[in-house]
Amino acid sequence: MRAGRYRALVDEVVITVRANGPYKVAGPVRVVDAEGREFVVDEGRPIALCRCGQSRTKPFCDKSHREACFVADDVAERVSG
Ligand code: FES
Repeated sequence: MRAGRYRALVDEVVITVRANGPYKVAGPVRVVDAEGREFVVDEGRPIALCRCGQSRTKPFCDKSHREACFVADDVAERVSG
């Protein structure tokens, strides 16, 4: 069910800042290293990029943020209208 939700956004990249966790990236992206080599990711599925610095599988999140008790609950400014 989740995969269908993300397929609907195929032309759009959405980066979700997870509270106390990774950046979840959904959409058609490629992740490459400093030399331009592409990381293998599951096509059509969102990826999670580490932002706590503790992952053993950087640049991807391996949930080490939980053990590290990483705290970052940034929220976007709300615009009323
Ligand atoms: S954000 Fe999950 S391991 Fe860093």
